[in-house]
Amino acid sequence: MPPALYVARLLPDPVMAVIRERFRLTLPPAADPPSRKTLLEGFREAEAAICTLTEQIDQDVLIAAPRLRVIANYAVGYNNIDVAAAQARGMVVTNTPDVLTEATADLTWALLLAAARRIPDGHELMQQGAWKGWEPTQMLGADVAGQVLGIIGMGRIGRAVARRAAGFNMRVLYYSRAPAPSAPNERWRRVSFEEILAQSDFLSLHVPLTPDTHHLIGAKELRRMRPTAFLINTSRGPVVDEAALVDALREGRLAGAGLDVYEQEPHMHPGLRSLPHVVTLPHLGSATRNTRTRMGLMCIENIVAVLEGRPAPNRVG
Ligand code: DGY
Repeated sequence: MPPALYVARLLPDPVMAVIRERFRLTLPPAADPPSRKTLLEGFREAEAAICTLTEQIDQDVLIAAPRLRVIANYAVGYNNIDVAAAQARGMVVTNTPDVLTEATADLTWALLLAAARRIPDGHELMQQGAWKGWEPTQMLGADVAGQVLGIIGMGRIGRAVARRAAGFNMRVLYYSRAPAPSAPNERWRRVSFEEILAQSDFLSLHVPLTPDTHHLIGAKELRRMRPTAFLINTSRGPVVDEAALVDALREGRLAGAGLDVYEQEPHMHPGLRSLPHVVTLPHLGSATRNTRTRMGLMCIENIVAVLEGRPAPNRVG
């Protein structure tokens, strides 16, 4: 009999095809997030589970799943899982590093450029048929080329974002616990937290969400940034104090922001609406067909490894 798998959300077709061939689903996956009741039901008989960042996998879920051996998180971040509790019960937790690095770095740059050059405002004007013609002072934006890019968290994604800065002739400052491997030359410089806040024209966040990084950027930090600077966040919403960010933007203490993630997803602070240099996306960092398929296949690979008694290639914790 094929192993029992709970899949919390409907994944791309090529992934679902492999899943249906190799596993027995405990419940049919839905496009929307499962209710708590459905989640507990799905886990009950499962030997393995694939969950996403919208499912909170806590003690209660783990206790409800006596046969569970592996939880494959369909994300690189795994702050939605109580990893210590899972490990204490002998379960393996895995994530999906590497495969989403380039897609997330691309989206970070899309946000940066869109916020700096007011791409959504321009698009909206054209779509409404409201453009009256070229004007010398219309929708003036901020320069990107030659500016200073600050990166907090120089892991895989932070480094991929930094690599792209070479094409824009930007100087890269970064803040991280350790020097970045493969820093190309003097254009990447490791600096203090104070320095990165004070000197970045664009500050991009690439840290995991942990108790240490919760509200890493709050009112105090925003006050240390340049009033001409932009904050870009494609990591996790709670890394930024969203209310403090709204205050800084409204008071002109920060020029703009590009956000893919929010403190209370799917909700966004209403103050982030209709600000000229604020671009907001619905958590699309890894959302390319190829990347989301590779993430799913990676989850399967990890699950199969554990069920066959081999080490999981992407074990966390
Ligand atoms: C991740 O992998 O952590 C992303 O946020 C999911 O798209």
